[in-house]
Amino acid sequence: MADYSYISVTPASRNCGAFITGVDLKQPVSDAEVAEIHQALMQHQVIFFRNQDVSPQEQAAFGARFGRLRKARRAAFDTTDDAPEVSVIINDRENPPYIDHFHADGMFRAEPEFASLLKAESPPTLGGDTIFVSLTAAWRGLSDAMRGLLADKMGLYDFMRLHSSPEKARNWEGAARAGMLKTREENPPVQHPLIPVHPVTGEQALYFSESFTAAILGVTKYESEGLHAMLTRHCAKPEFQYRLNWHPGTIALWDNRSSLHYAVADYWPDTRIMHRLTIETDDIGLGRRAEAVG
Ligand SMILES: [Fe+2]
Repeated sequence: MADYSYISVTPASRNCGAFITGVDLKQPVSDAEVAEIHQALMQHQVIFFRNQDVSPQEQAAFGARFGRLRKARRAAFDTTDDAPEVSVIINDRENPPYIDHFHADGMFRAEPEFASLLKAESPPTLGGDTIFVSLTAAWRGLSDAMRGLLADKMGLYDFMRLHSSPEKARNWEGAARAGMLKTREENPPVQHPLIPVHPVTGEQALYFSESFTAAILGVTKYESEGLHAMLTRHCAKPEFQYRLNWHPGTIALWDNRSSLHYAVADYWPDTRIMHRLTIETDDIGLGRRAEAVG
């Protein structure tokens, strides 16, 4: 069990998530605190902070302590002028919620992003939870026989696995179409190990999502489809999950290499406003690895 000197870490469930207390993200956070927050993220796959009423600039400053931030795409989301890395995600009557599917961000990219940092700016009064899945727990939860079959397999990951679905059809019309075409062109199907070794923790994870894993390679088409259906059900088991209820000022930070998330779309006609940013590189984790090796 990890020891923490500067923050308090309370597991949210047996297998997934932890709440962090003892840190105020509106104030400058020390290197030692950031190192412990990163350590908790590695241990629990996703971590949560309550009552952190940070501005977009403060959110970006905190995120940048962990690695390089991606500039938000204006075509896809609103942004704030003072923090171009922060996407403002508004789900309302004009833009109903539709991310009710399990995925890790960036799985379809050749170099998936490390982490995502999401703040509840104005969550619905009822509903709108996010379900997180530990992919390390999901891997441990398979039978020895199935782990033997999958351990050395590659997966094919494809943006279009999700975005050719009926629920996403409206994104190919109107103003969003140009951005979708660009993302599709920039992200042809790519292969990743289905069971990668986490570069920081050394743990294996089931790097699979119903949304972006298009096929499991090394087996037949129908075997791949059967495995896809089985793994979709497997990853949805409550034993591997934590379901987060958002309050104003709740922040979640998740590691996309070891977790999935699912935004529960049950809050209509309430509005849900979230501030999200993407951390592309795990500078702390990979720096640590370099120190350990060097
Ligand atoms: Fe996501």
